[in-house]
Amino acid sequence: MPSDEFIVTPWEVKGHVDYNKLIALFGTQPIDEAILARFKKLTGSIPMMLRRQVFFSHRDLNWILDQYEAGEKFALYTGRGPSGQTHLGHLMPWMFTKYLQDAFGAELYFQMTDDEKFLQKDELSAYATRGFSYDNCLDLIALGFDPKKTRIFLDTEYVRTLYPIALEVAKRVTFSAARAVFGFETSTNIGMVFFTSMQSAPAFLPTILAGHNVPVLIPCAIDQDPHFRITRDVAQKMGYYKPALVFSRFFPSLLGLDKMSASLPETSIFTTDTPEEAKKKIANAFTGGRTTVKEQQELGGVPDICAVYQYSFYLFEKDDRRALELRQECLQGVRACGECKKELAAKVVQFLKSHQIARERARDHIEDFIIRDCSD
Ligand code: TRP
Repeated sequence: MPSDEFIVTPWEVKGHVDYNKLIALFGTQPIDEAILARFKKLTGSIPMMLRRQVFFSHRDLNWILDQYEAGEKFALYTGRGPSGQTHLGHLMPWMFTKYLQDAFGAELYFQMTDDEKFLQKDELSAYATRGFSYDNCLDLIALGFDPKKTRIFLDTEYVRTLYPIALEVAKRVTFSAARAVFGFETSTNIGMVFFTSMQSAPAFLPTILAGHNVPVLIPCAIDQDPHFRITRDVAQKMGYYKPALVFSRFFPSLLGLDKMSASLPETSIFTTDTPEEAKKKIANAFTGGRTTVKEQQELGGVPDICAVYQYSFYLFEKDDRRALELRQECLQGVRACGECKKELAAKVVQFLKSHQIARERARDHIEDFIIRDCSD
C-alpha cells in the first residue's frame, strides 16, 4: 500500500490514517470552536479529549446539545467487541463517555458484542467471547460509571429485547447496501452480514424502553461509523430520532503502527499488565527520535510519529502547558527519548496500580450493571 493510502472499516484499520480525508470520505463534521464553546457554556469547561482533538469529528452533535438546552435529556450508547483483554486504547473512549455521563447526567447503554467477535474471529469460541465480555466489564466498572445510570449487556444474553429491534432494522437494509458499506465478499459468513442490525438496535433501545423518542449520542472510534450510517438511514424509516455521534481518533500502537491491536501484545499495554511488563513495553516503544544523540540535538525529534509522545498527549499528560512543553523540547532536540519514556512509564505504572485495585473491587459489582433477559 503506498504510504499515503489507508483503509478504515469496522474490522480493519491499515496504513497512515489522514483524519481530514476521512472526514471528507465519510461525510462527518469536524469539531469546531463553536462546539467547544457550547461545551464550555453548558458544562463549565472543555474536556481534554475535545481540546486536543482526540475526539475530532461528529454527526449531529449540535442537535444533541440543542435538545439538552431545551430540557430533553439524551442517552449515551457505546460498546466493545470482546475479543481479548482490555488495553489502554479501549479505555480512552470509555473515559470520555464517563465524562459525558457525569457532565450531562446521561444514562449509558453499553453493548458487549460477543456475537460479533465470535462470528468475526475464527479462533474464538462463543464461550471465549462471553468470558472476555465479563472480564472487560471489570475495566468499565473500574472507571467509575454510575450503577444507577449504566446498563451493560451481552448480545447473547439480552437477545429477546434486542432481536425484535434488530429485525426491524434488518428488514430495511438490503444486501447490496451492506456490501457497499462494509465491503462484504461472497465468502463472508452470513452472521456478519446480519450483525450490523444488532449493533444498530441499542441506538433505539432508550426510546423503546421509555415509550417515547429519546435522543441518543454514540461516542466511538471513527471506524464504527459505517454501522451507524446504516442506523441513521433506517432510523427515519422506523420513525425514530437518528442517533448523533462523536468520533475519536485511533489510539496509537506502541510500535508505531496505526491502531493498537490486542492480537499483538507488545503493541499495547493491557490493564492487567504488571508494572514491569508496562515499563518494558514502553522502553521498547517506537519513538520519533533520531539514531544518534548528536542528530537528535541538531535536528530535533518528531513527536507526531512518536508513540511515547502520543500516549502522553492522548491520556497521560493532563496539563496542557506541560504537553506543549514536551512537544517543543522534543522538536528543539533538547529532550532525549529516554527521558520521555521514563516520565511516561512512571505515569502509566501509577495509573495501572490504582486501576487494578478498582478492577478487583468491581468483581463484586458486576450484577449492579448487567441487564439480561435470558441466560443459560
Ligand atoms: N463493534 C464494536 C467493536 O468491535 C463494538 C460496539 C458495539 C460499539 N456497539 C458499539 C462500539 C457502539 C462503539 C459504539 O469494538
